Amino acid sequence: MSYAELAAAARGTIGPHCRACPVCDGRACAGVMPGPGDKGVGRVAEKNWRAWQALSVNTDTLHEPFSADTSATVLGRELSLPVMIGPVGDVQRHYGDVYDTMGYNRCVLEAAAEEGTLAWTGDGLDASIMTQSCDLISELGGAGVPTVKPWDDATLMRKLDEALAAGPAAVAMDIDAAGLPFLRGQEPPAGAKSAEKIAEVAARCHDAGSRFVLKGVMTAAAARRAAEAGVDAIVVSNHGGRVLDGVPATADVLPAIVAAAGEKVEVLVDGGIRSGLDVFRALALGARACLICRPFVVAAFGGGAGGRARLPGAAAHRARRHHGDVRRARGGQDRAGRPLGLAHVLLVTCAAMRPRRPAGLIWRQYCGCGQNL
Ligand SMILES: Cc1cc2nc3c(=O)[nH]c(=O)nc-3n(C[C@H](O)[C@H](O)[C@H](O)COP(=O)(O)O)c2cc1C
Repeated sequence: MSYAELAAAARGTIGPHCRACPVCDGRACAGVMPGPGDKGVGRVAEKNWRAWQALSVNTDTLHEPFSADTSATVLGRELSLPVMIGPVGDVQRHYGDVYDTMGYNRCVLEAAAEEGTLAWTGDGLDASIMTQSCDLISELGGAGVPTVKPWDDATLMRKLDEALAAGPAAVAMDIDAAGLPFLRGQEPPAGAKSAEKIAEVAARCHDAGSRFVLKGVMTAAAARRAAEAGVDAIVVSNHGGRVLDGVPATADVLPAIVAAAGEKVEVLVDGGIRSGLDVFRALALGARACLICRPFVVAAFGGGAGGRARLPGAAAHRARRHHGDVRRARGGQDRAGRPLGLAHVLLVTCAAMRPRRPAGLIWRQYCGCGQNL
């Protein structure tokens, strides 16, 4: 099943807030919360998506043929592709009754594990959500990333320990969730966390043999503080626009954050990534891997047992097919101020924007081999 077919099937089963659009671009559900939309005037989800589309991709087919390989090492694991399924909490409330959060987590954790990648699970006011998802991750040999909210200290440490006991690929915290409307004034309380607290959390994860990821980093300064605090990875994310209206698109802040994060921190990104081509764009801007979130909910509602596992595979297929290079509109110059002529394709752009990884490698992995375009 293609994604368009999955979305069409979901239209019969998904709740009233989500239109299960053929391209999940944030337009039909702008401002719809509860539901899958974004906060306030509701333009951030769409802005995320548009920012990837604005990055031009060019072709250069004059090279030796080779086989494309989308595998990637992320959070210390070998994944079949640098795409993971992002966390969604409170699924029933936002998408309707077919899946509760637990059912949805089971669906994506199993689907991701079958495809050789990872799903992340969300957290909520109901403590059983974390308990159940950690049980499942443990059953799957740690193939998952439980994402803990920035709760008050006692709750945070209790949930961290619960997550660590599952032996997961990593434990994450969506630090930006403190701004979610659904958590305001609730029990347990959630709020901002200092760099010292993050360092304590990272150390606790390391002591337990796990990596720690901070999700919701949107500035270079925050990336530097996260790196100093000892986090292993960050997710450049604005929570799909659900936390604060008017924030920039993740694609627009990604290059500066990659530069600030330093060599030791893996930079992941989410927000409006919808195709293999968008994955390619994100990698070309310096991300190690991406998270895709809302489309997997639609796929789960539309696909049932047959369709739900296919989306990561479909993204990999598209990524392999994308044959080209990325030229970011930077006034025609690379970072060092050298002019970017039309012939200075991927290699120049990636060398300038993604110093950690040889540009040729990205080329080999994502540009395909010139066949079956
Ligand atoms: C309904 C809904 C629930 C979400 N719940 C969580 C959550 O529990 N934890 C979290 O870290 N992010 C959560 N997110 C944010 C996503 O993980 C992701 O950052 C965001 O949707 C952007 O990715 P996308 O554009 O691919 O959807 C949620 C998003 C939606 C739409």
